[in-house]
Amino acid sequence: MVVHGRVLSCDGVPLPGATVDLWQAADNGLYDSQDAAQEPGNLRGLFTADAEGRYWFRTVRPSSYAVPVDGTAGRLLRAVGRHPMRPAHLHYQVIAPGHRPLTTHVFLAGDPYLGSDAAYAVKEELVRRPVPRTGGWDMDGPYEEVEFDLRLVPLGR
Ligand SMILES: [Fe+2]
Repeated sequence: MVVHGRVLSCDGVPLPGATVDLWQAADNGLYDSQDAAQEPGNLRGLFTADAEGRYWFRTVRPSSYAVPVDGTAGRLLRAVGRHPMRPAHLHYQVIAPGHRPLTTHVFLAGDPYLGSDAAYAVKEELVRRPVPRTGGWDMDGPYEEVEFDLRLVPLGR
């Protein structure tokens, strides 16, 4: 996949130099910290937005995954009769001077768990449909493109 977008203030002004910190599970549904087969730091990235507030990166398509159910969260989910699945997503933490830090996700349209996320984090405005593409973004073969802009609230608002 190619994921790209802009970091903006909530009035639409780009925020060059914003820090975009990302992490995601691999296509086996595991994070690097859960999977001995992955190097520490796998599928984590730290980017700086360019002069127009843009960021972009290449990655693998994340998959939906089950949250660990061997502790309190598992007991709670069983007590309320809910499954442990989270729909496929990428995590973001975005920081820019003069603005409130933003921690959020982007979810992928079409995931069967979008309507029943174990973490109750899905909002319609956080869902993007990956678009099949060929060419561009330094990609050699077919890929999917996701565009996701992030808007930060100025401090004091
Ligand atoms: Fe996650």
